[in-house]
Amino acid sequence: MQGLRLETAGCSAEVVGEEHGLTAADREAALARGAEALDTVRSEFEAGGHRFLRLADERIQWAEIREAAASIEGRCSDFVVCGIGGSALGNQALDIALRGGAADGSPRLHILDNIDPERLALALDTLDPETTWAVVTSKSGSTAETMAEYLILGAWLGEDLVAEHLWVTTDAAAGPLRAEAARLGLRSFEVPDGVGGRFSVLTPVGLVSAAVCGLDVEGLLDGASAASAACVSLAAEDNPAVLHAALHHALDTDKGKSIHVQFAYADALLGLGDWYRQLLAESIGKQGHGPTPVKALGPTDQHSQVQLYVEGPHDKVFTFLTASTFRSKVPIPESDLDAASYLGGRDLADLLHAERRGTQVALLDAGRPQMEIVFDAVTAPNVGSYLIWMETSIALMGQLYGVNAFDQPGVEAGKIAAFALMERDGYADRRAEIEARGARLRD
Ligand code: PA5
Repeated sequence: MQGLRLETAGCSAEVVGEEHGLTAADREAALARGAEALDTVRSEFEAGGHRFLRLADERIQWAEIREAAASIEGRCSDFVVCGIGGSALGNQALDIALRGGAADGSPRLHILDNIDPERLALALDTLDPETTWAVVTSKSGSTAETMAEYLILGAWLGEDLVAEHLWVTTDAAAGPLRAEAARLGLRSFEVPDGVGGRFSVLTPVGLVSAAVCGLDVEGLLDGASAASAACVSLAAEDNPAVLHAALHHALDTDKGKSIHVQFAYADALLGLGDWYRQLLAESIGKQGHGPTPVKALGPTDQHSQVQLYVEGPHDKVFTFLTASTFRSKVPIPESDLDAASYLGGRDLADLLHAERRGTQVALLDAGRPQMEIVFDAVTAPNVGSYLIWMETSIALMGQLYGVNAFDQPGVEAGKIAAFALMERDGYADRRAEIEARGARLRD
């Protein structure tokens, strides 16, 4: 995959021992299973399925998105996304990865996914409705958290601003939010059919905020397009999605590594960890299956988690997410301070790389299997490739674990219970029963 590399030697038996690593025979068997999974996913794609692999070429409503972003350029200081789960995590990941750290005058992004009242109140206290635009994003158009924010934001903007400042991204035809957009004449975008929330970052769901905030969306889509072609066409043995899926699956099912730690060693990559955590958990966590995803940030979490990782239970595989280059250079000043003089004259990135290598070696010495995904640099095309690579890997894991990677019955159950507790029409008759079950949790 151009701009990205997967290193897998760290999960081999040769490197971490036979008890915890994969022998050549284990690897061959894993890749054979991965090849079968690829055949299935490829046939389903050729039959018109797996639309996530076509999105980068479809560029759904890209002209409208660009036009909307241009229409508020210079007037919008803050852009708010009201959405949750797959309707928010991709937006956050793109912004963290691609904005590049330094302030450049483009609108600040606020992702109001959680509905903690203090957080919402603080956001609204500090924002100015005259210079704030918001997009309410919900595929179903009925998620309670998002609908509550829709009502709150609408009232906060007030009648004069709401029609211009509140945008909607939802199903093209169905759902309450689509009806609201039509009723109020709000600018609206579509969540295409056949694309689940957590696979929707390359649709208007993720791209509206990216475009408003001035991210390189075309670069992102170019990278994603090339990766889609590669993931579909490359033979299993050269296919990074097959490798990623098959090795993780084998480490879980053959070696008991049921906790999958994604260890980012660049702040820019941390949002991709949150995005991937949902993608893996919600897609594969079914019918008693599913690795538990954990995200960590290095070097910060060396001082928080690494003791456990090195000496705790042998139940984890580590996937390091690393960047070979950083967008900022920060030289460390020379000093004759005894304890720090060795740092002087080096760049801060040198220390970060040394810390990462140190952690990798400590894990290796302790027999902990690991892989590494190396970004040449955190650029829009590389991030686009990464998104597609991981989405394809998850589709393959669905085959390997024998689960439907594209539904989320466990999430829906919680949504329905919350509707009943809040007495939504059509659900309220279940309220007493749900409250009684909830009461069993109290001592
Ligand atoms: O991936 C998914 O399908 C979920 O995480 C949804 O994105 C999340 O539950 C929000 O749903 P909606 O977009 O319908 O508001």
